[in-house]
Amino acid sequence: MELPFAESYRIKMVETIKRSTRQEREQWIKEANYNLFALKSDYVFIDLLTDSGTGAMSDRQWSAMMLGDESYAGARSYYNMKNAIKEILGFDYFLPAHQGRAAENVLFSTIIRKRDVLPGNSHFDTTKGHIEFRQAVAIDCTIDEAKNTQLEIPFKGNVDTAKLEKVLWQYPREQIPAVVLTVTNNTAGGQPVSMENIKAVAALCKKYGVLLLMDSARFAENAYFIKTREAGYADKSIKEIVREMFSYADIMTMSSKKDAIVNIGGFVAFKSQELWKSCQKFCIMNEGFITYGGMSGRDMNALAVGLDEGTEFDYLETRIRQVEYLGMKLDEYGIPYQRPAGGHAIFVDARRVLRHVPKEQFIAQTLGIELYLEAGIRAVEIGALLADRDPVTRENRYPDLELLRLAIPRRTYTNNHMDVIAVALKNVYDRRDSITKGYSIAYEEPIMRHFTVELEPAETRKEAVEL
Ligand code: F0G
Repeated sequence: MELPFAESYRIKMVETIKRSTRQEREQWIKEANYNLFALKSDYVFIDLLTDSGTGAMSDRQWSAMMLGDESYAGARSYYNMKNAIKEILGFDYFLPAHQGRAAENVLFSTIIRKRDVLPGNSHFDTTKGHIEFRQAVAIDCTIDEAKNTQLEIPFKGNVDTAKLEKVLWQYPREQIPAVVLTVTNNTAGGQPVSMENIKAVAALCKKYGVLLLMDSARFAENAYFIKTREAGYADKSIKEIVREMFSYADIMTMSSKKDAIVNIGGFVAFKSQELWKSCQKFCIMNEGFITYGGMSGRDMNALAVGLDEGTEFDYLETRIRQVEYLGMKLDEYGIPYQRPAGGHAIFVDARRVLRHVPKEQFIAQTLGIELYLEAGIRAVEIGALLADRDPVTRENRYPDLELLRLAIPRRTYTNNHMDVIAVALKNVYDRRDSITKGYSIAYEEPIMRHFTVELEPAETRKEAVEL
């Protein structure tokens, strides 16, 4: 008999989490104005708000923390991080930053000017925010197939190269500081980009003389999918695949809170010494001196080890199979999600679940609240709340998809937790037709409203939504 799969680690330290009653949760979510970000984490049993900075560090990482060198300049920890970035990722130059968006800030302060355009595959919110804040434009050239959640294709995060070339052709080179390739594509559902697509994008960048920037938060998960899904890569190690992926990039920004498995940290890495130099001043002004940039020595040490562990096949297999396991459980119950299962999360297709809640009443958010009420599970809305208002017309923007993201922290929960999540969703799914009302906004900020928005149960019921 074939042995079943099991995790490639055992547990040395645990943290208590608490269950609560439905009555308590009703009270707490009301006090939080129906915003899941406003809940105390103690009120959450299983926290799937994000996989960012929420993973468990290994014994190797914790011991590296003890060896941290806290010197202001030239610390050993900086050189440990530098060596890992050179050996594992292949970049000669880098600037540390306290997290991914800070790395974006350092880079974009240097390369973006007003009216620039940066095409790519579904820029992450903060990336888009940093671009739009500088009065530049992010153009999404993701393949159209990504919008159909039920379509099962191996590389749903890919760039549509025809769309990209159109943009590159349309605008003068001086107006395009970089193409932004996000691996994996978080917004499209943690979906990977194939090596073939990376190569094609890099070739277009070369043809038009534009830099290729990889937003690399989940680069290792992307490499795992290349190894397991793309012809010609099965026998290559994750580290070999990672080196090949980055051989096509000029710059990378990194949120180390994801695939470097640390609780805080980031960096921007360069192939060009000149560009590295011209970004240094923004690191010094906003983050810190160029050999620590907002990170403590101990965190840089843990990051260096995390880059190594995060690019090991056994670790990645354990991680991604857990997300897949949750997907399989949802399949058993017929719950629709962005197919196939993503690298870091399952994105439930809320519009296919709550057919009676009108889009004006925030479908995915309503599903998120129901899931919290059901079992104390916290997920995050990727829908109209997040999409915000149009900056010019101030009208609500309604995205193609209303998704509820169940992000799985690394090395944190067991498959028993996945079972609880799946059954909780099934219970909500089974009573889906009784959920006819969503929420309306009582208070909102002019930008990035979803973090602080205050909601109240909607009064009016609209007719069932046609799919
Ligand atoms: N790029 C991608 C693709 C991301 O997913 C994130 C963060 C960032 C950049 C910014 O990095 O948080 O370290 O400043 N994503 C988190 C998430 C917040 O929940 O998906 P950061």
